[in-house]
Amino acid sequence: MEPLPSLVTERLELRLLAHTDAAALRAFRGNPDAVRYLSHHALTAGQTDRLLADLLARAERSTAEWFHYGWAVVLRSTGAVIGDGRTWNTTEPPLPGGVPARCANLGYLLHPDHHGKGYGLEAAGALVRWLFTERGTHTIYAGVYEPNTASRRLLESLGFTQDHYFTASQDTYGKALASWRYRLDRTSWPLAGDD
Ligand SMILES: CC(C)(COP(=O)(O)OP(=O)(O)OC[C@H]1O[C@@H](n2cnc3c(N)ncnc32)[C@H](O)[C@@H]1OP(=O)(O)O)[C@@H](O)C(=O)NCCC(=O)NCCS
Repeated sequence: MEPLPSLVTERLELRLLAHTDAAALRAFRGNPDAVRYLSHHALTAGQTDRLLADLLARAERSTAEWFHYGWAVVLRSTGAVIGDGRTWNTTEPPLPGGVPARCANLGYLLHPDHHGKGYGLEAAGALVRWLFTERGTHTIYAGVYEPNTASRRLLESLGFTQDHYFTASQDTYGKALASWRYRLDRTSWPLAGDD
């Protein structure tokens, strides 16, 4: 795996997930409120550990071109892992995946104890900047269930716009909810001039 530096923001540090993050991950990946609008239901400890092992294996196989990284969102003031993020342009690095070249996907999740304080925007913003400035990504996609107002506002604050609407009957994750795919192009990124 290529070495990746941490992403440091005003209040957060985002670093690659590690085995030692298992307990923190269980606390939010197993929390029904945290995963209500994610592509899975609340995970058991064993399921969370398998998810973490899977993410670590994908990170290990990632290259500069084809990658799938899980990030720990760390509160700098306490060192606590309060959430995780994901950036990927293929599900199976180093093999090219279903995402078009120069495009990538973004995901994020915080423990509910830390919602509504701007951490989500701060973390997602750091991952967007990393994808655009360090990875040569041209377009970032994020899928959001329609009722997930917090996530939609977060994306819109970062400059994302609605790209495609999926009806509830098209949902493949068992949530039976309509969703939006959002996109942000590097050329219309509001912070492009701040590099
Ligand atoms: C989505 C999530 C990461 C947002 O993180 P957050 O730190 O709570 O959000 P922020 O405080 O950074 O706020 C981002 C925007 O959402 C708004 N917002 C936050 N919580 C909200 C809520 N419950 N309802 C409506 N809007 C909300 C904020 O006002 C802000 O919008 P604004 O800039 O227009 O005022 C967080 O709610 C979360 O982890 N949810 C569970 C997992 C999830 O749904 N992940 C996304 C899957 S697509």
